[in-house]
Amino acid sequence: MSRRPGRGRGVIEEPKDRKKTLRRLLRYLRPYTLQLIIIFVLMMISSIAMVAGSYFIKPIINNYILPGDFRGLFRMLLLLGSIYLIGALFSYIYERWMLHISLKIIYGIRKELFEHMQKLPLRFFDRNTQGDLMSRYSNDIDNLNEALSSAFLSVVSSAVSFLGTLIAMLTLSPILFPLTLLTLAAMLYAGKFIGDKSKNAFRRQQKELGQLNGYIEEMMEGQKVVKVFNYEAKNVGAFSGFNEQLRLASVSAMTYGGAMMPTMMNLTTISYAMITLVGGLMTLAGRFDIGTLIAYLQYSRQVGGPIGRSTQQVNSIYSALAGAERVFHVLDEAPEIDEGKVHLVNVRLEDGKLIECVEACRLWAWKKDNGSGEAQLIPLKGDIRFHDVNFGYVEGTPVLKNISLFAKPGEKIAFVGSTGAGKTTITNLITRFYEFGSGKITYDGIDILDIAKDDLRRSFGVVLQDVHLFSGTIRDNIRYGNLHATDEEVEAAAKLANADKIGRAHV
Ligand SMILES: Nc1ncnc2c1ncn2[C@@H]1O[C@H](COP(=O)(O)OP(=O)(O)OP(=O)(O)O)[C@@H](O)[C@H]1O
Ligand SMILES: [Mg+2]
Repeated sequence: MSRRPGRGRGVIEEPKDRKKTLRRLLRYLRPYTLQLIIIFVLMMISSIAMVAGSYFIKPIINNYILPGDFRGLFRMLLLLGSIYLIGALFSYIYERWMLHISLKIIYGIRKELFEHMQKLPLRFFDRNTQGDLMSRYSNDIDNLNEALSSAFLSVVSSAVSFLGTLIAMLTLSPILFPLTLLTLAAMLYAGKFIGDKSKNAFRRQQKELGQLNGYIEEMMEGQKVVKVFNYEAKNVGAFSGFNEQLRLASVSAMTYGGAMMPTMMNLTTISYAMITLVGGLMTLAGRFDIGTLIAYLQYSRQVGGPIGRSTQQVNSIYSALAGAERVFHVLDEAPEIDEGKVHLVNVRLEDGKLIECVEACRLWAWKKDNGSGEAQLIPLKGDIRFHDVNFGYVEGTPVLKNISLFAKPGEKIAFVGSTGAGKTTITNLITRFYEFGSGKITYDGIDILDIAKDDLRRSFGVVLQDVHLFSGTIRDNIRYGNLHATDEEVEAAAKLANADKIGRAHV
């Protein structure tokens, strides 16, 4: 049992090769190019509308409220309302649309991942823990979905709003603008400082959470051993240690994590107060008009928002890219090699000659194309021979050394040996669960490397050391071995394995 740090949600991870991963991710977006362009346009209009709305405050106050033109004011308010409405409507449309596209892409990636995993050799599953592989489907793909459906667009729309707001403010008042820049500099600095601190704190929290989860998992798996050796009290002690570390890490993560928004709000308020003071004095001195001041103040309240939003979204994009990288990593794993051209076919005997038949006949044969265009049929007998086979699961650690053996058709053979001697390994090679290094294995005289894997495995009946039941009924599980088995055959198999009585209710 190996303890592995689990990965929870919310961890900020950096992708190793950001550009490459992004480029590969973009390939999944390509089929939606046209839709994405429309979404982008909607997003731009919506962001600009939201920024432009505030600009109307100036003419509304200066040209309508102050002179008392209420009819005009009503018209302007209608116009303003329409602009905001368009902004809100477009943002609703593009967000929903993006969600649909993103979920379609995620569906595709999940499918591709699962289909690819079915083709991977057992060696791959030896190298990767179950928990880690599971987290590609849950954590990594979740993070990716979050980024695709909202974070990417949100960062772009924040950038547009930010730039739009700055331009509007500069146009409204070049004199007050330096005050705003000062506040923004302070915000960026504070954002970076708190962001870095909270990133580290969250990392530590994640690490501690991983330790704790790993420990719980290990102890749950090993409950029997724990009970046999009376380790319960000791475990509780060790658990408390991990638990306490997690608590401490969480306190600092929460503290920094919670500090971002209030800091930004406070800076915004300070800037608001400064601008009110300076702008107010200037208005009193007659160097400024009230409409401009109020519009400017409105913008100064909004301008910090995109900075806070983007810092969070950028982190979630990083997590998503790191997740995508791990998913792609699995997709890049080479599938099982299968170059076999010899297939297993049903045959019948006619005048002493084997003839292939389409319907289910009782006899089986290997169908081998020997180059002349005419297929050769070799009866399936079950003659297995090992010739000087060498094999090791891990390079440099041989398990089987120069093994030669044979099993003639019909023979009952038992491998007897101490644990770890390599008995299961021998059967693992016959079924080609693993590729052997050197030597040759023949099956009815045919090199097993020439036999198509599906057909090779179909020709065996294998009862594994560790029995695995899939969810479903016992009948389903028995039928897993032969999907064409009749109900009578399944029941006969259940009787043979003594599984007919205990499972009667479910068979
Ligand atoms: N998937 C694997 N990855 C790495 N090493 C493995 C793997 N499976 C088995 N081994 C190693 O290969 C050797 C042979 O193992 P094997 O399972 O064939 O033994 P066995 O004879 O079947 O033992 P047992 O009687 O316990 O079933 C052992 O040293 C074992 O640790
Ligand atoms: Mg074994």
